[in-house]
Amino acid sequence: MEDKLKLLSDKIGQAMLGGGEKRIEAQHKKGKLTARERLHFLLDEGSFEEIGMLVTHRSTDFGLDKEKYLGDGVVTGYGKIDGRLVYVFSQDFTVFGGSLSETHAEKICKIMDLAMKNGAPVIGLNDSGGARIQEGVVSLGGYADIFYRNTLASGVVPQISAIMGPCAGGAVYSPAITDFIMMVENTSYMFVTGPNVVKTVTHEEVTSEELGGAMTHASKSGVTHFACANEIECIRRIRSLVSYMPQNCEEEAPRLPYESGNEKRPALNSIIPANPNQPYDIRDVISEVIDNGSFLEVHKDFAENIVVGFARLAGRSIGIVANQPAVLAGVLDIHSSTKAARFVRFCDSFNIPLLVFEDVPGFLPGTDQEWNAIITNGAKLLYAFCEATVPRVTVITRKAYGGAYDVMNSKHIGADMNYAWPTAEIAVMGAKGAAEIIFKNEIAKAADPAAKWKEKEQEYMETFANPYRAAERGFIDEVIVPEDTRAKLIAAFEMLQNKAAKLPQKKHGNIPL
Ligand code: HXC
Repeated sequence: MEDKLKLLSDKIGQAMLGGGEKRIEAQHKKGKLTARERLHFLLDEGSFEEIGMLVTHRSTDFGLDKEKYLGDGVVTGYGKIDGRLVYVFSQDFTVFGGSLSETHAEKICKIMDLAMKNGAPVIGLNDSGGARIQEGVVSLGGYADIFYRNTLASGVVPQISAIMGPCAGGAVYSPAITDFIMMVENTSYMFVTGPNVVKTVTHEEVTSEELGGAMTHASKSGVTHFACANEIECIRRIRSLVSYMPQNCEEEAPRLPYESGNEKRPALNSIIPANPNQPYDIRDVISEVIDNGSFLEVHKDFAENIVVGFARLAGRSIGIVANQPAVLAGVLDIHSSTKAARFVRFCDSFNIPLLVFEDVPGFLPGTDQEWNAIITNGAKLLYAFCEATVPRVTVITRKAYGGAYDVMNSKHIGADMNYAWPTAEIAVMGAKGAAEIIFKNEIAKAADPAAKWKEKEQEYMETFANPYRAAERGFIDEVIVPEDTRAKLIAAFEMLQNKAAKLPQKKHGNIPL
C-alpha cells in the first residue's frame, strides 16, 4: 500500500508544480499569480475540490508525446464563495503558455456540464496563449465545444470571465459570451488580432495594452465590465459580484439580514439643482437610497452617461439603471443603450428586480449616432425593458423627454410602479424646442420674436415641466417627496416580491442586434 500511496502523492506533487518551478518563477516575475494561487484566493478556505488533476494531452505531433504535464494547463473543479457552490477553471500559463488543447478543452467542458446540471455559476480565470499550436484543428474544435456550452448556459447559470493574461484570437469569444468580464490592468489583454497583424494590415503602430488592455476595453470598447488594478482586486471583485446573484435562473439572489429603521433621507430633497440645466451626480441619489455602501457599479468607465450596477435595498439584491445628468446631460446614445440593455437582460435572466432612476433629455442627435444605428441600438434597450418580467420600478427625478421617456422603464412598457419627484418634467421635448416648433408662425409674426419665443417657452414649461399631467393619466403612480424615496422603494419591492409575469409562448424573440 505504501508504495501505491507514494505514487499517488508523487503525481499530486507533480501536478501542483504545473510547468515547473522555473516557469512559476517567471509567472511571478511578471506580477502574476499562478492558476492555483488564484483559486486559493478566489474560493473559501479549504473548499476547492479538483477534478481532472491527472489529465494529460493525447498529442504526438512535434514531439509533444515527450512533453506532458499533469492537468494539461488548466486547473478545474468546484468550491465555494461565501458558502455557495461555484464551478471554476483556471488556466495555467506555466504549461504550454496555458494554451488550449483538446483535453484542456474537455476539462473545461466537463465542469460546465456539471454546472448546468447542478445549477451553479461558472467562473473562468483565463491566462492563455490561445489554441495549442501543435494540435491544429482539434484545439479549434475544443474552443467551439466551449463556445457552444457558454451559449447554452447563458441565462441558465451566471458565467464570469476574468482575463489575467493573454486572451487572443478566437479565444476571446468564450469570455464575450459570458455575463461579465474582468480584466487586470497591465498584465492582461484581449484582441482578435494582435499588434503585429494590425501593423501589417492597417499600418497602425499600437502596443498590446493600447490595443486590448484593461482600460481600453473598460472605457473604449466596453468589452470588459471591470478593470482591476491587480489580480487580488480582480478576485475580490468576482467574489463581491457573485454575492448579488442567484445560483441559477430558477432561484433568487440571497437576501442579507436587514434591520429596518428610519428610512427618511432628507439629503435627497436638495439634490436637484434649481436650474434644470445644471448637472448633478446620480450616484449621490443612488447612494442615499440603497443600503449603506452596497453599490457595485458595473461598466463604470464605459458610456458614463448611464450608470448601471447592483445594490441592496433592505437586504434584497437589485439591479439599478440610472441616467447620469453629470455626463452628456444623461442623454441616451448608442453605447449607453447597449450597456444598459445588456445589464437589464442579465438581471431579468436571473430574477434580480430592476430599479430605474430617470433624468434624460432624450436621444443624442447627430450624424455619428444616426449612421452608427442609434435606431437599432436604442431599440435594444427598449426591447430589453419590454421583455423583462422581474419587478420593475422607476423614479423620475427630473427630465423624462421624448422617446427616452417611453424607453426608460415607463408604465407603458411594463414597469410595475412609477414614481416621480415634484421636480419631474415629463414631455415630448424640452420647452425651448417645443415652443419653436408649435408656435413657429406666432413667433415669426411677433414684433419682438425673441420675447414671444421666451413667453411661449414659459407657457409650454408651465404646462408640461411637471409630473402632474402624467400622474392624472396614471402613468405615474405617485408623486413623492424625495426624502421618502427609500421607504417607498422598499415597500414597492416588498409588494412586488411574488410578481408572476409570463411572456407569450415563443421559441425566442428577435432582439434588434
Ligand atoms: C503552444 C504555446 C502557445 C500556444 C505560448 N506557448 N503560446 N504553446 N501553443 N498557442 C508556449 C511557448 O512556446 C512557451 O513555451 C510558453 O508557452 C510561454 O510562452 P512565451 O512566448 O515564452 O511567453 P510570453 O513571452 O509571455 O508570450 C506569451 C504569448 C506568446 C504572447 C501568448 O507565447 C504568443 O504569442 N503565443 C502564441 C499566440 C498565438 O498566436 N496563439 C494562437 C492564436 S489563434 P516554453 O516551453 O518556452 O515555456 C487561436 C485561435 C483560437 O488561438 C480560435 C478559436 C476559435
